[in-house]
Amino acid sequence: MQELGVILLAAGQGTRMKSGIPKVLHPLGGKPLFLHPLETVKQLLPTRIVVIIGHGADAVRQVYPRADVEWVIQDQQLGTGHAVFCAKEAFRNFRGEVLILSGDVPLITSCTLGALIEQHRSSGVALTLLTASLENPHAYGRILRAADGSIAAIVEEKDASDSQRKISEVNAGVYVASAAFLFDVLSGVKNHNRQGEYYLPDIVAIALSEGNGVKTMRVEDAREIMGVNTREELAYMEKNLRDAINKKWMLAGVTLKDPATTYIDENVTIGKDTVIGPNTQLRGKTVIGERCQIDGSAFLTDMEIGDEVQLKFSVVMTGSRVDDGAIIGPFAQLRPGTHLGRNVHIGNFVEAKAADIGEGTKASHLTYLGDVTIGRDTNIGAGTITCNYDGFQKYKSKIGDRVQVGSDTTLIAPITLGDDVYVATATTVRHDVAAGALVFNPREQKVRDGWTERKREQMKGKRK
Ligand code: UD1
Ligand code: MG
Repeated sequence: MQELGVILLAAGQGTRMKSGIPKVLHPLGGKPLFLHPLETVKQLLPTRIVVIIGHGADAVRQVYPRADVEWVIQDQQLGTGHAVFCAKEAFRNFRGEVLILSGDVPLITSCTLGALIEQHRSSGVALTLLTASLENPHAYGRILRAADGSIAAIVEEKDASDSQRKISEVNAGVYVASAAFLFDVLSGVKNHNRQGEYYLPDIVAIALSEGNGVKTMRVEDAREIMGVNTREELAYMEKNLRDAINKKWMLAGVTLKDPATTYIDENVTIGKDTVIGPNTQLRGKTVIGERCQIDGSAFLTDMEIGDEVQLKFSVVMTGSRVDDGAIIGPFAQLRPGTHLGRNVHIGNFVEAKAADIGEGTKASHLTYLGDVTIGRDTNIGAGTITCNYDGFQKYKSKIGDRVQVGSDTTLIAPITLGDDVYVATATTVRHDVAAGALVFNPREQKVRDGWTERKREQMKGKRK
């Protein structure tokens, strides 16, 4: 078995994106564009992967901190041919074949790449490349064929004649050749074209002129080879990817009430018979269990959600864990580090941050729970605030099991309320409270009979 090497081109600026960030870093399906082909190609188990970077090189490298790729810098972006040539040193003693891919072609599958390599090996030609027929081939390199149907050359859109532009078969930008042949043929590439660039596709005509065999493989689903060069293409790709992901989950037994407004990132998983309402975004590594109900307008990032959880309309939840049977919302927020035990209820206008809340506990209205551990079957009354920050440091609160926290309670952290504590309504709790105790702030209630009427009399004519 021949060794396989990979060159992934990711050095270009992506001028047509009109962006301050490199094109290959624009997110698609929740991750930078070039990570799509990179992760796909890893499925072929290549012995080495070289990524050519240049524009925004540091930023590109940073999003993939693993050591299984080698980075090669292309200082000046002189064209795709020049970019590949930059990898010559890295492949100096490499005896196998090299597969070349573009960082801006995200939907290519390992199945297609595998078939291309297979065809290359069995045909014994010097160079094999992938093509596709596109309804709108605009901006792609066109495949020129000889009278016998064999490939003759590739011409770029900008260099093509009107009749060549009518050709619908395009270059996918995916090539296989032995490393020795590749770097040899590349040294013959010139930049005599409209863009003054060293075009990688020129290796086709050079290889042929030197008497080497070149073959093509046409991909069945042309969407696989579509590149992202503009924001419009990025949006189109996002939609394609989203449709495919949504379809996968519907086939797996998840109801999406409105797939058009449902955004599910690639690494999300969802259990069967979960129902997802409109306007839902499931991002990052979110995991959702079975038979959950998401009403809609939910924005979940890196969440772990058990079975039969109900998310009422409009919730924002990040980096937290929710156990089976919990009910959250409407209008609630879980911030990172929160854990809700089984059957916890979190109601409207409740925010929890780094809160560990025990089974069956309820916080139904207007509450902030930050840096707090709460036991089971506790009731947090409306308007309860854990005062966890004094402007300098954060402090923790601990609330026991079966605690009854009255409405309008402020808990000044650090503080501990033991099990079965009863906090009277409108209490500011400043010191720890032992298990089973009542805590309250004595405040006398004063009443003035008939006061309102007298006040109105007094103010008569003064209202604007
Ligand atoms: C390229 C092909 C075209 C093909 C199309 C398929 C060339 C000249 N043209 O056109 O035939 O139909 O891909 O998508 O190759 N890059 C570098 N260094 C550079 C220039 C580009 O690393 O100096 C990288 C880019 O970051 C990108 C890839 O190469 O990932 C392709 O470059 P791009 O400018 O998008 O080429 P296309 O015009 O799409
Ligand atoms: Mg491109």
